Amino acid sequence: MNNLFIFLILFSLCIGNTLGISKLILKNELQNQILAVRCKSKDNNLGDHYLRVGQSIGFPFNDNVWRRTLFWCRMWKGPDYKIHQVFDAYRSKWKSEYRPTYLWIGREDGVYFRQEPYGKPLERKYEWNKTAP
Ligand SMILES: *[C@@H]1O[C@H](CO)[C@@H](O)[C@H](O)[C@H]1NC(C)=O
Repeated sequence: MNNLFIFLILFSLCIGNTLGISKLILKNELQNQILAVRCKSKDNNLGDHYLRVGQSIGFPFNDNVWRRTLFWCRMWKGPDYKIHQVFDAYRSKWKSEYRPTYLWIGREDGVYFRQEPYGKPLERKYEWNKTAP
């Protein structure tokens, strides 16, 4: 009985620590175009998404302590989806705070990033790559 109790406590601690504690968010802040996004990890393809101006999409994930979590994303600017960028959207070693959110924003002049809460102010991480794949 005692052992079961201890097991349950440990078990719930593990669940609480690993279940969807982080979030990846991508947002369209272009002036007037659709932003296409595609994110992948080693295990998951999070699909293709077409965001309207002002729209965002969020992917909760576990930062599994037993594996190295890595997400990488692509963004394409409409209407022809030639202007694009590829970037690492999340790496386990970035993890520093409880329940962090990793926010990537597509704007006219590039791809911006901010980690919330307590992160650095929004900054431009990448300019757009104008060479079509
Ligand atoms: C831009 O994109 C093209 C096509 O995907 C790629 O070959 C090239 O290396 C990229 N350039 C930079 C600077 O990332």
